[in-house]
Amino acid sequence: MDVYGLVGNPVGHSLSPPMHEAGYEALGVDARYVTFEPPRDGAAAAVEGAAALGVAGLNVTIPFKQDVLAAVDPDPLASRIGAVNTVDFSGAEPTGHNTDAVGATRALRAHDVALSGTAVVVGAGGAGRAVAFGLADEGMSVRIANRTESKAGALAADVRGDGSESADADADATGHGLDGLPELLADADVLVNATSVGMEEDATPVPADALHGGLGVLDAVYRPLETRLLRDAADAGATTVDGAWMLLYQGVEAFERWTGREAPVAAMNEALRDRI
Ligand code: ATR
Repeated sequence: MDVYGLVGNPVGHSLSPPMHEAGYEALGVDARYVTFEPPRDGAAAAVEGAAALGVAGLNVTIPFKQDVLAAVDPDPLASRIGAVNTVDFSGAEPTGHNTDAVGATRALRAHDVALSGTAVVVGAGGAGRAVAFGLADEGMSVRIANRTESKAGALAADVRGDGSESADADADATGHGLDGLPELLADADVLVNATSVGMEEDATPVPADALHGGLGVLDAVYRPLETRLLRDAADAGATTVDGAWMLLYQGVEAFERWTGREAPVAAMNEALRDRI
């Protein structure tokens, strides 16, 4: 039996165990997915301990995504993002990956949103960072808008790879304040909310009249599934993608990396949505 798990603190509320175990069951894979809650300074020890015990793969969540970098060999995207949410133990050394980035792009693509043109990412925290790098990696021009404008500017510079020789010199990214949103959205193709606004409250970081039918809109918030932003986006005729899709596809991407098999997306999606 293979053991997979999630390392976080706290991890009690996680939806990953039922989602992954539904995937194992659907494919007849003999595996379990469990949660681990090491102390907050225990990221590297957790990875080393898991490797020693023969754990097959780990997901990593708050507050360990940055600390784990030092204990793994990160792939280029995880390295540029500066955060790892998936560790693979199948090689000689544990490798680190960031499936949050691909989670967002796969969620959009699964809803037939073309990943070309301009994307507006609202939020410059951990989630916004992964999403901005993911969309830039697809070749999109990325406009980052954040309440604290200086953080948007700093993230845009990181996405462009300013000061780094190995970065993708073609990446087009700029940082803005939230008041720039109407202008930015006028000719945008994709909008992602990567702030916590809308979580447990009926609020949105984007003015409703800035939305239009040419947008694909992903809200990373998944509690509630139907946020005010997504309601406004649907009213404007946009394609809407709720936050459970991003959560699903970051898990699907990890599942496929670990098992080497195509994930049973429908079974994993059902298990996830049953519990939101
Ligand atoms: P996560 O890891 O989920 O991205 P985070 O790193 O704490 O969490 O980032 C939270 C994001 O939500 C930030 O972009 C934050 O904006 P600031 O950088 O200005 O703090 C944004 N955010 C949180 N509350 C907000 C609010 N009421 N209005 C606008 N943006 C908000």
